[in-house]
Amino acid sequence: MGSYLPEKVLTNADLERMVDTTDEWIVTRTGIRQRRIARQDETTSDMAVEAARRALENARMTPEDIDLIIVATITPDMFFPSTACLVQHKLGARHVPAFDISVACSGFIYGIAIANQFIGSGTYRHALVIGAEKLSTVTDWSDRSTCVLFGDGAGAAVLGEVKEGGIISVNLGADGSKGDLLNLPAGGSKMPASKKTIDDKLHYIKMNGAELFKHAVKIMADAGLGATNPLNLKAEDIDLIIPHQANIRILMAVAKRMGIGEDKIYLNIEKYGNMSAASSAVALCEAVKEGRIRKGNRILLDAFGGGLTWGAIVIEW
Ligand code: ACO
Repeated sequence: MGSYLPEKVLTNADLERMVDTTDEWIVTRTGIRQRRIARQDETTSDMAVEAARRALENARMTPEDIDLIIVATITPDMFFPSTACLVQHKLGARHVPAFDISVACSGFIYGIAIANQFIGSGTYRHALVIGAEKLSTVTDWSDRSTCVLFGDGAGAAVLGEVKEGGIISVNLGADGSKGDLLNLPAGGSKMPASKKTIDDKLHYIKMNGAELFKHAVKIMADAGLGATNPLNLKAEDIDLIIPHQANIRILMAVAKRMGIGEDKIYLNIEKYGNMSAASSAVALCEAVKEGRIRKGNRILLDAFGGGLTWGAIVIEW
């Protein structure tokens, strides 16, 4: 694992000076105290490459060892070429398959699931899966209901075959009927960029927070159980849950619904906010670094996001 967080820290106190909000509101409603913001000249692929370099170093590998590159992002450098192609080139990897996936916050888990298929089938030996986002570019910094939530960052994993354990369960899903709850309306083929779309602020994330909250709790709990039930795993069989860091209240409600102790929920939301596809990747990386994950532990990765999408994976570390 490897991660990269931009240097600039934007605190709740900073946001108090930008919109009508308070540190107290943000902390009690979301659990977020600060988030990182990328430099203007720092792109999603730049952050992805840095996270990938660190992951490769930790895996004692070089870019030449990689057979597949997947980048999960909803804030690509541009529509095309894909961010994964940019990463391949900047990293100096071989001309291996490289593509992006657009699954919002569940993207890293989908990426891991895809890589797992390629490695499991023996098609590729080593895959690089990255979750990277520059959400600050699609955040309306005058909208207090969304701007307090998001941050920038990247996390990367190098996957390879293991003799025992590894990814032992995968549960992915999507419900396109609820896409309206969280979207970025303009810039695509439906509503190409125009003076009107800019004036109407349609190039920013639009969110129905309260409705999303309700769905998120049920979706994350069901997704998690959908990954653990086929293995007959009980709450006590899971050593640590690495959830998508959307809102601390969502995560605590998910823990309750799943009958899992709050102490088993890994949290870093207070430092970084919601980084969409990067959130689970960075959280997994930091949990490893902090010694929260040991060999043989059973880890549940669990995420939901725009789409709506969800994904949960059980890893025997
Ligand atoms: N500061 C102060 N007041 C605020 C702020 C703010 N930053 N934002 C909203 N408010 C106000 C609202 O205007 C409202 O005021 P009113 O009662 O006078 O109308 C009041 O606070 C309550 O607003 P709610 O939206 O009901 O607040 P809620 O408790 O639902 O919290 C939140 C809002 C934090 C957005 C919550 O709904 C949430 O976390 N939803 C899920 C969001 C999420 O997970 N999104 C991302 C998932 S997918 C992805 O990551 C891409």
